[in-house]
Amino acid sequence: MSATASPDAYHNPLRDSRDKRLPRVAGPCALVIFGVTGDLARRKLMPAIYDLANRGLLPPGFALVGFARREWADEDFTRIVHDAVRANARTPFREDVWDRLAEGLRFVQGTFDDPDAYDALADTLHTLERERGTGGNHGFYLAIPPNLFPVVLERLSASGLAQHNDDHWARVVIEKPFGHDLESARELNTLVNTVFPEDTVFRIDHYLGKETVQNILALRFANQFFDPLWNAHYVDHVQITMAEDIGLGGRAGYYDGIGAARDVIQNHLLQLLAFTAMEEPVSFEPAELQAEKIKVFKSTRLVEPLELTTSRGQYTRGWQGEIPAVGLLEEEGFAHDSGTETFAAITLEVDTRRWAGVPFYLRTGKRLGRRVTEIAVVFKRVPRLPFDQTMTEELGQNALVIRVQPDEGVTMRFGSKVPGSSMEVRDVSMDFSYGQAFTTSSPEAYERLILDMLLGEPSLFPVNDEVELSWSILDPVLDYWASHGRPDEYEAGTWGPASADEMMARTGREWRRP
Ligand code: BG6
Repeated sequence: MSATASPDAYHNPLRDSRDKRLPRVAGPCALVIFGVTGDLARRKLMPAIYDLANRGLLPPGFALVGFARREWADEDFTRIVHDAVRANARTPFREDVWDRLAEGLRFVQGTFDDPDAYDALADTLHTLERERGTGGNHGFYLAIPPNLFPVVLERLSASGLAQHNDDHWARVVIEKPFGHDLESARELNTLVNTVFPEDTVFRIDHYLGKETVQNILALRFANQFFDPLWNAHYVDHVQITMAEDIGLGGRAGYYDGIGAARDVIQNHLLQLLAFTAMEEPVSFEPAELQAEKIKVFKSTRLVEPLELTTSRGQYTRGWQGEIPAVGLLEEEGFAHDSGTETFAAITLEVDTRRWAGVPFYLRTGKRLGRRVTEIAVVFKRVPRLPFDQTMTEELGQNALVIRVQPDEGVTMRFGSKVPGSSMEVRDVSMDFSYGQAFTTSSPEAYERLILDMLLGEPSLFPVNDEVELSWSILDPVLDYWASHGRPDEYEAGTWGPASADEMMARTGREWRRP
């Protein structure tokens, strides 16, 4: 430590005396959405913006600018936003809130490579600055396919819109996929960073915006009784599951050739692993949190041989409850011989003192038995059971299950005596449920993330090191699969291919059936 360091250099965020519970309202700004006619904008972004306005978290002169090829006027755009809000907003529709928001809606028509369209965008933004006091602060949300990133970034740069200085900010929001392997992710990061410096880049991993995901940190670091058990001495293994019952109808353009591992393991599931495995950060300042996640990613590797420790599958025709479901190869737009996996399971090890030897099993799939995302920390069995063997036949392993969605909450599973005259012990569970414990509903992930971006608060956005490290963890299995035939089959509505169960059975374990 240098003797001349200023006290500021060692500012301790934990001593900041502001009341952090007070809502943070974004300062003057405009948000531009590229790809505003897409599904994401209508289902998630527009409703989230309205919900923020409804909660009083947007500045009075806030402006939302849509940029797309359609021949729309401002009125058409306003109607589209209105319908999207009506259909998908979380909070009740209030005319006064809507009217105020609608005053700041503008549409700029143009193709993504047309310099004139960017001039028109710049004019619109300058006018908004004058009329609504947006302060020249601009967020650019790229809700577009990644092959369009280069041209949009280049045009934003050429038109001067990407410039920021001490008086006003310019930030870019990028949706995944952040590349399709390490090499392409590096290229993308280099490209983005030539126009927007890293501290102005906000990569969306919407799982980090979920309350239940942030709650992993509260659970682990605000409580005393979990931490002593949270390590290889007591934990047998961890299962992270993201199961969906929906199929891929309508998503061939994005999904074919991408597959389950790239779609969600590289991002959502590895982020869940990082929150579960990381050490306590010094504080929740962005750099401190990122440093701990990066340490986890640097220590994480696939368990080999991949032939035995991974599984991938593709759904075939089956039943989703009472409803018949077609197989992937029959879904519109997929190649008739598509080898894209719709189910993926991998085994990872986090090679740290805390976790060495504990397998982390990650699995995800479409058209599985039901929609559920959870993290199950499964504990070792007690070294000795002083009961007659027949008394504990229905006793499993203790487990702590973080229910990310739906039915958000936490479950603890442990053994309890069955009432009666014998000492029979059986599994029971103790539940915490968000719905019962809190009266307010949780904000949508996109509300939280859009607000954080407008506030310039980067904690919940993965930085490029995290993205690249995640790819370097996953790349070997993607390469392995690419050179080893087709995925196994599983019937729609089941829990994945037999190879996934076999992979677990080899280590004497089994998947949970949530
Ligand atoms: C997206 C994936 O990131 O997350 C989709 O691209 C997936 O394939 C979606 O369906 C699931 O999000 P959520 O919030 O419904 O779990």
